[in-house]
Amino acid sequence: MRVLFVCLGNICRSPTAEGVFRLELERAGLAHRVEVDSCGIGDWHVGKSPDSRSAAAARRRGIDLSELRARQLAADDFQRFDYLLAMDHDNLEALRAQCPDGCRAHIGLFLDFAGHSDRAVPDPFYGGDQGFEDVLDLIEAAARGLVEAIALRLEGTQR
Ligand code: 4NP
Repeated sequence: MRVLFVCLGNICRSPTAEGVFRLELERAGLAHRVEVDSCGIGDWHVGKSPDSRSAAAARRRGIDLSELRARQLAADDFQRFDYLLAMDHDNLEALRAQCPDGCRAHIGLFLDFAGHSDRAVPDPFYGGDQGFEDVLDLIEAAARGLVEAIALRLEGTQR
């Protein structure tokens, strides 16, 4: 199973989602069954480390984002990944616009897995520190829901 988190710049929300989701997979004993990555719709920050405010907020919750580097969404991501999960509606629209015909991946909003139907992870880039804490709260809830959904799918494929 392969999961790709998608935001605009790949330096705040989607790397945070990648780090949080990896930790939740480890806690569930599923890290070896699921491949995880993140990317941005835009190319402004390609090759950069996560935003220092995102990294600091994640570190306070025991999550290390220091190895991650930003990359842009690529055409073959639609074949490679089973889930392409957008942080907000603009990211989702961009994914749908670039999705090739016949693409079988699940493309949707990440927060659907937190039970927040149609809700977005707000872009914290131009705001204050509290925005980064709020992003983490939302992402932690959705990461737990996504682990549960994937665990059920993996159980189904084992039968
Ligand atoms: P992200 O946040 O999409 O969560 O990584 C942003 C990072 C950079 C910019 C916008 C959003 N930017 O405009 O440079």
